[in-house]
Amino acid sequence: MRNFTTVNDIGNLQDAVKEAFEVKANHFAYKHLGENKTLLMIFFNSSLRTRLSTQKAALNLGMNVIVLDVNQGAWKLETERGVIMDGDKPEHLLEAIPVMGCYCDVIGVRSFARFESKQDDYEEKIINQFIKYSGRPVFSMEAATRHPLQSFADLITIEEFKTVERPKIVMTWAPHPKALPQAVPNSFAEWINATGYEFVITHPKGYELDPQFVGNARVEYDQDKALAGADFVYAKNWSAYADPNYGKVLSQDRSWTVTAEKMALTNNAYFMHCLPVRRNMIVSDDVIESERSIVIPEAANREISAQVVLKRILEGLQ
Ligand code: CP
Repeated sequence: MRNFTTVNDIGNLQDAVKEAFEVKANHFAYKHLGENKTLLMIFFNSSLRTRLSTQKAALNLGMNVIVLDVNQGAWKLETERGVIMDGDKPEHLLEAIPVMGCYCDVIGVRSFARFESKQDDYEEKIINQFIKYSGRPVFSMEAATRHPLQSFADLITIEEFKTVERPKIVMTWAPHPKALPQAVPNSFAEWINATGYEFVITHPKGYELDPQFVGNARVEYDQDKALAGADFVYAKNWSAYADPNYGKVLSQDRSWTVTAEKMALTNNAYFMHCLPVRRNMIVSDDVIESERSIVIPEAANREISAQVVLKRILEGLQ
């Protein structure tokens, strides 16, 4: 594997999950792979899980790790070509990227949608420049339109907890006070569509996702109908995708909060969320604290998904 930004980069999903279980059974079996190799993790945005789990995965593989928070301690970066740089950004990304590539063997990038230009966000302008100019393998630690390390961890978790061959998975929009990117729901949809499992997406009108990610999923505007018989409930907020409302909050309707009453409509479903989660906006206290909540094992699997991806990248460098 050279780069990892979408489900297409992981190849056969069953093989990837099998490899994840092998890595989980022995975290240190591939410690030799990362010897004298350095991972540079670049954060344009905040993180708890991605930062810790990816660093842990790299250490398990014997790598050295450097972490750069671009907005804390580094020069402010200009990202647009052609700009007269007479403002507050002293360095251009087009020099910064190849310089960063000089100091490492692999680069992880977190760069959220900026909501300044839908075209720039959906063309993945930032991470694609890293792929083009760094000279190093690059993997997404959540980019503008996808969060594949999260989706891979979500799939590993579903495979661990499912009790039927083809579970019904429902991804539900839930309210949030701020405008969030579509990266997590886009990516989850992309990965679950690739499994062939029964997949329903439910949200209020106006929150339709990009059709390329919705794929063959059933879209249901009645949340109660969508939840009926679900084996897994995956809650997430996202802002509007469709023009002219791209990146906007259209509703904070708390009747969409995942409560015990909502979960009672399901087939005793497991509750999932990528975290961080706003309690009593996205999900009630009792649901996230219930024995059917698997948000912590889901977060734990972030180490495993990152380790499989790093392992494959390192194997490509041997
Ligand atoms: N789920 C996730 O990516 O968490 P962080 O934003 O804390 O990394």
